[in-house]
Amino acid sequence: MQSRLFAHGTFRDAGNSRKFEVRNPANGSVIAPVADGGPDDAHAAVDAAAAAFPSWRALTALERARPLRRLAELMLRDAERLADLCSQECGKPLAEARTEVAYAASFLEWFAEEGRRVYGETIPASDPAKRLMVLKRPCGVAAAITPWNFPLAMVTRKMGPALAAGCTQVVKPAEQTPLSALAIAELSVEAGLPAGVLNVVPGSGAAAIAGVFFERPEVRHVSFTGSTEVGKLLIRQSADRVVRVSLELGGHAPFIVFDDADLDAAVAGAIASKFRNAGQTCVCANRFLVQRGIHDAFVERFAAVVAALKVGDGRAPGTQVGPLIDDAGLAKAEAHVADAIAQGARAATGGRRVRVDGCADRFLEPTVLVGVTPAMRCFREETFGPVAPVCAFDREEDAVRMANDTPYGLAAYVWTRDGARIMHVSEALDYGIVGVNDALPAVAQAPFGGVKQSGLGREGGRQGIEEYLDLRYVSWRIGK
Ligand code: SIN
Repeated sequence: MQSRLFAHGTFRDAGNSRKFEVRNPANGSVIAPVADGGPDDAHAAVDAAAAAFPSWRALTALERARPLRRLAELMLRDAERLADLCSQECGKPLAEARTEVAYAASFLEWFAEEGRRVYGETIPASDPAKRLMVLKRPCGVAAAITPWNFPLAMVTRKMGPALAAGCTQVVKPAEQTPLSALAIAELSVEAGLPAGVLNVVPGSGAAAIAGVFFERPEVRHVSFTGSTEVGKLLIRQSADRVVRVSLELGGHAPFIVFDDADLDAAVAGAIASKFRNAGQTCVCANRFLVQRGIHDAFVERFAAVVAALKVGDGRAPGTQVGPLIDDAGLAKAEAHVADAIAQGARAATGGRRVRVDGCADRFLEPTVLVGVTPAMRCFREETFGPVAPVCAFDREEDAVRMANDTPYGLAAYVWTRDGARIMHVSEALDYGIVGVNDALPAVAQAPFGGVKQSGLGREGGRQGIEEYLDLRYVSWRIGK
């Protein structure tokens, strides 16, 4: 397991030789002491990325695609090892971690190809002696600040487009999950990625490392996935040097079930969306809006399936719901349950902590709350935990109004068999992603991102690579 920072193609200790402990959230055990990179290490990594940029940019897209594709293959070759590491670091069940490895590799495959389709433009000139062109050029060194809930996939979702575009990159992985990012770095050497193209600086002081990214003129793009609160700080920091930022921030996804929905499919979708990674994804359903006519049947079936979910250490066979990432995460989810109950909601199932043998006190019963109203915290804030608040509605316009009544706009879900309604509601929802009878819409080839306070820019899809490209307009006078 690689636990040292990665710059200019080599692994080394932090300049100050300090280390921090990365722990398994399920049982608190130390997975590894990891190099605690600081500002000097971030500067060295930016130096390495800046030095590698001219030669990486000069390669053809096809040449850049080769190591990216090879890295995807190596990740799939080592899928079991990577999944186990990912599960240890963030607590997600092994089955989910295996899916994440494939998801992570898919971003490298997609962008290796997409790099070959960075087309420019020619524009009809008004002067016959001129030719007008638009070229697309890699913007420079890109920095990525990645979250703990997808320790592999959020690295490759930023790395794939940056490197395919011709940028070089410095990654600051989440303090909780740096080992997965370092495992990718290790495989990148085997994949033949030239030194300095990818650099990884783990560290316990994210703000100091991010400060270096905003200070250094070579860094032209900062991509961040995490909370809206931190995203706003980064926007402010980006102002001084006018650095481009891409932000994937908080969500508060409504999951709307209409009377005519396929009940079994809606319940299966609700489980998949809500309890993925114990409710700790930005696109997890965060509130269930269920039409009055199907409400009781939905709640009964949903609660029965939720009550049977197996909670435990992500690496234990059969686990479906793992721990919360830390004590603060558990406390927030519990506070949302307590607030709802105090204001008159009822737990149809769950609501309390679960003791898991040999594990830390980090587990909450998968919970379904009924009788939830818009006044409750769970209806207004992102819970980021295994809590499903259900609220009844009467008319389509009520559901849309309640769904849009939030500063967030990342993902929304709609369950209905009515084609016209699918179109109306998809158009009316103020969200970047709408899953229609689909609980897991995110794929490498589609644009992922939010509106309002859920973020800026898109990752994935043909749009994802544009974030890393500068437009250059060339006006060429070819004659007198
Ligand atoms: C996220 O939580 O930001 C990522 C979710 C996904 O890619 O499906």
